[in-house]
Amino acid sequence: MTDGGSSPGSYRRASGLSVRWIEGEPERRLVVDTARGVRAAVGPRALTLLDLFGPGRTVSEILGAVLPVDVGDPARDGVLRIIFRLAQLGFLEPVDGRVEEGARPIDPFHEFGQFDYHVRMLADGPRVSAYARAIERAVAPGMAILEIGAGTGILSFFAARALGRAAGAGGRVYAVERGAVIEMARRVIREADLEDRIQFIAEDSRRIELPEPVDLIISEIIGNRVFNEGILESILDARARHLKPGGRVIPRALRLIAYPARLEEFDGYRTTLAGIERETGFPAAPMLAWLDGRIRGGGLVVEIGGGAFHCTPLGIGQEILRIDLESFEEASAEGETRLRINDAGRVNGILIAFEATLWDGISLDIRPESPETHWQRPFYPFSEPLDVSPGDEIPVRLRYRSGEDMEVRLAL
Ligand SMILES: C[S@@+](CC[C@H](N)C(=O)[O-])C[C@H]1O[C@@H](n2cnc3c(N)ncnc32)[C@H](O)[C@@H]1O
Repeated sequence: MTDGGSSPGSYRRASGLSVRWIEGEPERRLVVDTARGVRAAVGPRALTLLDLFGPGRTVSEILGAVLPVDVGDPARDGVLRIIFRLAQLGFLEPVDGRVEEGARPIDPFHEFGQFDYHVRMLADGPRVSAYARAIERAVAPGMAILEIGAGTGILSFFAARALGRAAGAGGRVYAVERGAVIEMARRVIREADLEDRIQFIAEDSRRIELPEPVDLIISEIIGNRVFNEGILESILDARARHLKPGGRVIPRALRLIAYPARLEEFDGYRTTLAGIERETGFPAAPMLAWLDGRIRGGGLVVEIGGGAFHCTPLGIGQEILRIDLESFEEASAEGETRLRINDAGRVNGILIAFEATLWDGISLDIRPESPETHWQRPFYPFSEPLDVSPGDEIPVRLRYRSGEDMEVRLAL
């Protein structure tokens, strides 16, 4: 393979690669190790390419898969440079003989867990119906639309359908997805016969260029911990680089709602570990010190959902943060509120839920009192539980800094 030139040869992902997340100062990164002891830090594009090459593909097949549109030479050269580097490191190795066209299709899901994750999102009725209604209302014929994080393609499918199928109706959806799941979106859209309306781009949205500015940006990249899928960073970038003046964004706004709550299982860890020490002599202190250290550092969060933990709010939810996604200017946020206690009891943390306004009168609401969705809600434990009575107030503070996890604590 030569740097910058296309190669007719086939390459496969080397066997024995392992991917690890290194959590260190000053940087956190993914590294890949080969069985031969070669190690290198990799970005999401290199990982996607390694995945796409799988047991064997030609470079031109990969270029066709990741650059389906004529995005120009700089993008093509960028991909070729990464492939060359991966081959140099031995992360890709040459295969003798050409791979038959279509003989080894790209696997969109790697493993069943990925398939299951996407099916749970598709089966989430409140989520899908709110997005379907909002997209139907927002899309007009002729629009250019960008979806950030197309996944299996459902929101781009709604948008393409709303553009209309009449000859000459015009309009286009740019469906951007950085994961291999984009291959499934392509299949679904082919099946729906909407290929002429959608252009797929297999890349992180922050690295793409588009041939035209768009009228509407759509995304559902709201994580369980709200910001952990990069919603603020991705929307800020897409709005600045791709949205027409006066263009719209779905969702339009996010409200975060805090509840004083009791997580039944949480206080139990201390007694469980103390009991184990009593019965077996196995020292509990190091485990408890870890727990307390993580809570004090603000770095402990328990995701509640699916019945694994029992969490009871002891007061009504209070808005702690509101972000207008059509106008916010930095990917960081802070909020404070006072949580009012309704029921006497023991509060041992704060539960966070969100409400996303998708369009006029259409919102997605994952508060505990609303119908269940696939989202889990984050619970931020206190180092010491608080015994509370009706009418008490607990001051709490929320902080999100780009690249870090959201923190929620008592504001004492
Ligand atoms: C929560 S899933 C939603 C998938 C799909 N839109 C749906 O509604 O079912 C989010 C997807 O967005 C992708 N994603 C998140 N941020 C992205 C970005 N900045 N650029 C490209 N893909 C992104 C993830 O890989 C993931 O597949």
